[in-house]
Order: sequence, then C-alpha cells, then structure tokens
Amino acid sequence: MSHNGTRDAQSARPVEETPAGMEAGAGLVPRSRDLSYLRTVIDRRLGLLIPTATAHPSVLHAAMRHVLFAPGKRLRPLLAIAGVLQLDGAEHAVLDFACALEMVHASSLVMDDLPCMDDAAVRRSQPTTHVQYGEDVAMLATIALLSRAFGVAGAAPGVADRVRLDAVAILSMAVGSLGLSGGQYDDLHPAPGRSLAATEDVNRRKTGVLFVAAAEIAGHVAGADEQAFGHLRAFAGHVGRAYQILDDILDASGSAATLGKDVGKDAQKVTVIASLGAPRAKKLLSEHLAGALSASKDLGPNREGQEPLREFMDAAFGELMGPLAP
Ligand code: IPE
Ligand code: IPE
Ligand code: MG
Ligand code: MG
Ligand code: MG
Repeated sequence: MSHNGTRDAQSARPVEETPAGMEAGAGLVPRSRDLSYLRTVIDRRLGLLIPTATAHPSVLHAAMRHVLFAPGKRLRPLLAIAGVLQLDGAEHAVLDFACALEMVHASSLVMDDLPCMDDAAVRRSQPTTHVQYGEDVAMLATIALLSRAFGVAGAAPGVADRVRLDAVAILSMAVGSLGLSGGQYDDLHPAPGRSLAATEDVNRRKTGVLFVAAAEIAGHVAGADEQAFGHLRAFAGHVGRAYQILDDILDASGSAATLGKDVGKDAQKVTVIASLGAPRAKKLLSEHLAGALSASKDLGPNREGQEPLREFMDAAFGELMGPLAP
C-alpha cells in the first residue's frame, strides 16, 4: 500500500551551516534502522545543533547540555523517525525535526521541575537543571532550548520549504497555550471536581501533543496522504494518553532509583489514577495501547514488511506490550 500523496517532492538543500560553537562531529545519516542505534544518531546530531559548553556564556550552554544529554529515552524523536520509516520516507530528512522535538521536550522538563511547578530535585538520573545551575540559568536554558528547536526545524535540510513551514507550525501549536503550556497550567490548577474526560484531555495537552506533533511531522516528511495522517494521529494520540497514565502509575509506585527522577510529585494532583484507582487506570492504559497498535496496523507495514511504530511501542512501554502480542 502506498501512503504517499502528491506533495512529497523534497528539495535538495545544503545542510545548515554550523554556527559558532557548534563545530565538530560527523556521520549524520542513520546507517541502521535499529531504534537503539537511532538514539545514538539523534544524540550525535543534537551535539552538533547545540552550542558547545565552551561558547559564551558557558554556564548557559552547560545547563542546556546538562538536561539534553542526560540519559533520556528519546521517545519523541524516535516516534518521528519510526513514523517516517513505516511510511517508507527518508529517515535522514526527519532527523533535524526529531532533534527539535527532543529540544522542546527537554525544555519542558526543565520548566516542569522548577520550584513553582513540580519542584523536583532529580531528572534523568542527575540533579535538575535549577538545582545544578540555579533558577535563573534554568529558565534561560528553557527559552534557549525552545528557541533553538524552532531555528533547527525552520532550517532542516533535505526537505521542501512547505515541510519546514508545516513542522514549525505544528511545533508552535504543540508547545503553545492550546497545547503543552495550557495542559501544564490545568495540571497545576485543576478545576474543582474535574471529570476523568477532562483529566484525559489535560494529559493529551501536556504530554500527548508532542507525540502527535512527532507523528504529524513524520507524515509531512514522508508525504503521507490524508488517510495515513489519520492513522498517524490516532496512533500518537493513544500513545500520549497511555504514556502519561503509565508515568502517573510509576510516580505512585515506582522508585526514584529506577526512574531517574523524583517520585510522588503528582500524589496531590488530579490524575487518571486519582480518578479511577490503579487497577482501572491500568485497564484504560491497555485500551490505549491496543488503540495505538490497531492504528499502526491500519497504517500497514512498510515495503520491507516492518512495523517500526510497533517497535517504537516496545521501546516506550516495554513489558506492558507483552500481553498485547498477537
Ligand atoms: C517525561 O517524559 C515527561 C512526561 C511527559 C511523562 P519521558 O519519560 O519521555 O522522559 P525522558 O525523555 O525519558 O527523560
Ligand atoms: C509532565 O508530566 C509533562 C510535561 C510537559 C513535562 P509530569 O510532571 O508527570 O512529568 P514528570 O513525571 O515530572 O517527568
Ligand atoms: Mg508536571
Ligand atoms: Mg513533573
Ligand atoms: Mg510524572
């Protein structure tokens, strides 16, 4: 089955010139489609796109690198790449968008951990950015990472101008007041007696939007048709909701040592777990995982008969995928 519509012309464009402080590095094109190898590719490209810690002001660049290069799972960039691979698109063309997604995500983590937000001390198995560098630097690092993300997306090489414009617009909607920022606001200021549906909508906005943005950008890069876009959005929508429920379950029952971040930070929040209790929340989580699997099936395998989005789900949800195996 072909997923490609008519708008898949990708103009050749020189790779963005390396700005001062972003020198060095090599090998930007994935040589393997193995998802764990792709993490290395993403990290290498991120290293080139963010100024080195020697660039002035070095504390700010060190803070940006502190959060970005700590051991994160790289799920949003992996989703974008897996989506392109499933649609038989060119994975190198999505790499800079994938990096931009990770920068946006990293900036949201720094913000989420601030004392005025979740007030967390540990993130990605190390001190949170404000604990290590101070709140002033952490806030500036957030803005710098976010701004760099838009610059990187706007200058992504190897795609048509239209794809870059779409990607920038998608990222903007995802981070803005109708997306992550609004979702984070409602997470911190829940309306009294908030319904389960409203809490799921907060999860969609604070967490789901970046997964959906990754899927939509993949669709644009691969020149997906409307039907494929529908499946991509459905896939990422379910993944985002499932992922926040899992995160809330782990916040309540996991350990800081395993998760690499503080636990119990959302104990007083209005979460799906608080509304349903853990057993029913786990059932809802499984329903979302089943929904995502079915959307990936609807999209169909790629030319090589592979389903990279299914592999992505294994990376994101691990052993939870076991009971859902066909
Ligand atoms: C944490 O995201 C924030 C949530 C939306 C739950 P991840 O669990 O993807 O964190 P990293 O990127 O691996 O650190
Ligand atoms: C965070 O949700 C969503 C973001 C936009 C970062 P959480 O507050 O539950 O994420 P963690 O548990 O701190 O990673
Ligand atoms: Mg939070
Ligand atoms: Mg938090
Ligand atoms: Mg959490």
